[in-house]
Amino acid sequence: MSAHVVTNPRDRIRRYLKDLFELIGTPLPLEWPEVPKQVYVQLRDQLFRQIERELSFVDGQSDLNKYQKSYARYFTETTRALFEMDWNQPYPIHEASEETIDRLAGRPGAVGPEFDQLYCTPDSTQRRTEVLLQSHDPAHSRVFFLGDDDLGSVLLAPHFEGEEGEVHVLDIDDRILAHVKARVPSVHCHKIDLVKGLIPEALAASFDAVLLDPPWDRYECLMFLDKAICFLNNNPAARIYLSFCPLQMELYRNGMAHFFRHLAKRGMTLDSVTPVFNLYSLDEQDTPSFRRELDEALPALDAPVFQHMREVPYAYSNLYVIRRTLESQIPWWREALFRYKHIGG
Ligand SMILES: C[S@@+](CC[C@H](N)C(=O)[O-])C[C@H]1O[C@@H](n2cnc3c(N)ncnc32)[C@H](O)[C@@H]1O
Repeated sequence: MSAHVVTNPRDRIRRYLKDLFELIGTPLPLEWPEVPKQVYVQLRDQLFRQIERELSFVDGQSDLNKYQKSYARYFTETTRALFEMDWNQPYPIHEASEETIDRLAGRPGAVGPEFDQLYCTPDSTQRRTEVLLQSHDPAHSRVFFLGDDDLGSVLLAPHFEGEEGEVHVLDIDDRILAHVKARVPSVHCHKIDLVKGLIPEALAASFDAVLLDPPWDRYECLMFLDKAICFLNNNPAARIYLSFCPLQMELYRNGMAHFFRHLAKRGMTLDSVTPVFNLYSLDEQDTPSFRRELDEALPALDAPVFQHMREVPYAYSNLYVIRRTLESQIPWWREALFRYKHIGG
């Protein structure tokens, strides 16, 4: 089954927000999102207060366990993020080009839960390509996609044709590898299981850019991230591009602190974070198993506003750009500081 195509997810998000505010009793102004800052802040405060009310209702449900209660935040926080995004980011950011739509056409349907597939929207894949090309020269860069149900390699590889750089993809899913190879034969495809498999020596420490959109579980994410670090070379321009939903960290106590410690222990640090960079369709047609999992995890509740939030049409993730710390990249740096301290001053 292949997915139905949406050229700009914003229309659907906007409809969802408009219906939500109607339910809350404060319809969004007709000119939304072209409203002044003060109007935006007032609407945002109102949404926050409503979210608190919904969460305290959920908290009061004695038949829900603590996981289900924290799960409810998944819907409310996603709603909050999409609302802020709709005001903050211009509409055209989410417009996929015709070329992108053509190139991504016919991709294999998402398979979950065994492959954890939930692919991002075409415009998200397009933005990833643009970010990549802003920092890595196809003339010599080696790029590695750790899992590619989003078909980032299919959009990126044409820019590398006739150049010395290379695009590689690994995946556990034969369908994805076959699809990528058929669309762009120049892509180097590897069937590797990142959980159980070993890292081939020939690929270790050899890439300037490693992209991943790991499973949305914080331990699996960190495990995939460790593999990404193994594939990254020591070039100062080398970067990891991690797409990850922060909620999967933030819903756990000390989740974000753990993430930062995990990076620091491996000589890595964050170069930048772009909030709500990727969108993922939760439409049953696109990702039947994911929507089912969401519905099974939390039973329907007698709370109309919350029930509407469960129908949030898109999930999101941030883009975390990760690099080696200067200290681990440039050994003389520490020495230079030492000299400065002991000779200069
Ligand atoms: C892990 S999925 C995640 C998508 C989305 N972020 C989510 O959480 O549902 C991204 C890609 O990794 C691939 N993948 C899943 N498990 C894998 C494994 N153990 N080894 C290699 N690739 C894997 C999938 O086939 C898919 O193409």
